[in-house]
Amino acid sequence: MSKIYIQGIGHYVPAKILSNQDLEQMVDTSDEWITTRTGIKKRHVVEKETCSDLAYQASLKALEDAGLKATDLTHIVLATFTPDTYVPNGASHLQKKLGCAPTPCFDINAACTGFLYALEVGRGLCLTNPKAKVLVVAAEALTSRVNFTDRSTCVLFGDAGGAVILSTEPGKAEVKNILIQADGSLGDLLTIKGGGSAYPPKLGEPIDEKYFVEMQGREVFKYAVRSMADICLELLAKENLSSKDIDLFIPHQANIRIIEALTKKLNLDVDKVFINVQNYGNTSAASIPLALSEAFEQKKIKKGDKVLLVAFGGGFTWGASLLQF
Ligand code: COA
Repeated sequence: MSKIYIQGIGHYVPAKILSNQDLEQMVDTSDEWITTRTGIKKRHVVEKETCSDLAYQASLKALEDAGLKATDLTHIVLATFTPDTYVPNGASHLQKKLGCAPTPCFDINAACTGFLYALEVGRGLCLTNPKAKVLVVAAEALTSRVNFTDRSTCVLFGDAGGAVILSTEPGKAEVKNILIQADGSLGDLLTIKGGGSAYPPKLGEPIDEKYFVEMQGREVFKYAVRSMADICLELLAKENLSSKDIDLFIPHQANIRIIEALTKKLNLDVDKVFINVQNYGNTSAASIPLALSEAFEQKKIKKGDKVLLVAFGGGFTWGASLLQF
């Protein structure tokens, strides 16, 4: 089987910052509650920008990093659950901005695990098309689906984009393995019900809570830790590695307590864990490529390093990937 490589990495966040102090003015919460329960201090939020704007800026950076033009791309895979529109798909808006028709483009919705699902699809495209140059991008204008009167969810999320370019040509990191899993029976624990065919919008009916993120936080917490720990161990076993062999661990940046519990379960050295949740909150699908790109920019990754990625999200979905730099 051909080897698959990441050629370029990039990320983008919107300029506007919403701090915990700002949220104190909006709902009955406090910086102290948010910090101790989640580790989040601030998040970046869109004003006029859409999902495809975030994806576009991140993609330009990844393309530049790879030394490629948009017209070199053979496929665009966008992970998101907050596309600009449902039809056309979010990737079409991105492709239009990149100016690279007729490159095929489509969306993947696996909530916060979206990037790893898209990476697996991108890997498949590279394996069946040895000349492929696949843009795997994740972007969420997530605050467009956050209920800013619900204190139990509105403090958690932020907006961002992150991208990588995949190909079979040797590049900065080899994608050694990817594992993705799901359990649809747990979908109701983290959901946006409104607007789908089960809850279609009706002309003249008001938009209510079901059009925004709804979550059973405690249940999600439990499953997130267990599923991410299990899939990391499964992936490490497949690669004949132990957690001691990992140079940098990049978990989904949802909540510092989830990251700490996971680090402990995996018996990882805390110095090997990359954390930026304090600055961005949970940016869903964008969380992993944003963290990967920042870790690289901050020179936390050296040549030869083994980097383990893991994510968990609505569905439930979860996944892990091992990169060799
Ligand atoms: N500010 C102040 N109080 C808040 C609050 C906020 N922003 N949000 C909830 N509370 C209150 C609740 O109303 C509740 O009050 P009560 O005891 O008077 O009823 C109390 O805090 C405890 O609520 P609970 O939901 O049990 O808190 P928790 O310890 O489980 O923490 C989360 C809540 C959301 C931080 C936590 O469950 C969590 O991190 N879950 C995982 C979420 C996540 O990361 N999801 C995405 C995964 S992809």
